[in-house]
Amino acid sequence: MAATSTHPDVRSLSVSSRLTDKHGRAITDLRVSVTDRCNYKCIYCRTGNEGAQYAELPIADYLRMVRVFVSLGIEKIRLTGGEPLLRRGLIDMISELAQMRTAFSVEGVPLASGAGRPLDIALTTNGHLLQELAQPLQDAGLNRITVSMDAIDHEKFSRITRVPDSFNRVLAGVRAAKRVGLDPVKINCVLLRGFNEDQIVEFAKFSRDEGVIVRFIEFMPLEEDRVWTPEVVVRMEEILAALNTFQPVVPLAAKVVSETALRYTFQDGAGEIGIIAPVSHPFCGHCSRVRLTSDGKLRTCLFSQSDHDLYGVLRRGGDDGTLAEFIQRTVDRKEARHHIGEPDFLKPSRSMVHIGG
Ligand code: 5AD
Repeated sequence: MAATSTHPDVRSLSVSSRLTDKHGRAITDLRVSVTDRCNYKCIYCRTGNEGAQYAELPIADYLRMVRVFVSLGIEKIRLTGGEPLLRRGLIDMISELAQMRTAFSVEGVPLASGAGRPLDIALTTNGHLLQELAQPLQDAGLNRITVSMDAIDHEKFSRITRVPDSFNRVLAGVRAAKRVGLDPVKINCVLLRGFNEDQIVEFAKFSRDEGVIVRFIEFMPLEEDRVWTPEVVVRMEEILAALNTFQPVVPLAAKVVSETALRYTFQDGAGEIGIIAPVSHPFCGHCSRVRLTSDGKLRTCLFSQSDHDLYGVLRRGGDDGTLAEFIQRTVDRKEARHHIGEPDFLKPSRSMVHIGG
């Protein structure tokens, strides 16, 4: 175990071990939910009921846990929610994360020097507050941004988010993100049969017109309302068929092995489409991810039946070495795969908004 510092300032930690699970997968990607509040009530995610209890930790506590993850070899941090742009202190948190880029080293050589991969800091948002925040996010050191959009048709968009006139705000946010250099902007679109599969070609045009990467995601059983059935899922082959009615698609090579999206462009080379197909083409075999929920629980799979209370270890006074051991022990038990669509499938213990995308 590399990380054994007991001092809260873990700058001296070196990254000499890789987090791996018992299936041999390297865990390099941490998603951190910084709030489970959201200003949208998307029909496939929230019940729309008010009055829920929210769970958020002090930013300093997320940072303390993230530092230990980075010391264990995490290379990519994605901030999620809920809606992360609602979180007070987010910009300062990103500045602190950006400082970890130079604070850590592989056997004494700083990651940012090119010896290892520099820490990549990304964020997933619904885009509602992005127009105002794009520049501060960029200035703080964010590398990349993903915006969730499930329709191009404005009315449909409002019906999905259950917020009136939301489309134009999000569009302005996407454009602001591009303008300040958070490029390429990725758009996530969750497809639901009978609802937005008619938007596939519209999104293809959007990708080309706006210069953004559009990723279609197969709907997974992670919603609060428990409406998922296999029939609602718009599968990869169907998405490709729809795209082909617009213009023949051409596959693009994967950039990294743990990439979740299969990438495509069109015959004329304009636009980029990703298809994330966890239901029809699971990618668990090269999953590199773990998640920290907004209440500080470590989750090894979206579909886990339980969480691991990392924050509890911190609260009981655990030092960095103790946190690191807890993380490694938990990662060891990462599930081999999910069981969506199989007879033995059990719904996960928490819904997406509480886990963090
Ligand atoms: N299935 C697939 N994707 C989902 N997302 C939220 N809920 C689901 C679901 N049940 C998407 C969001 C966001 C990303 C974090 O995950 O739209 O883009």
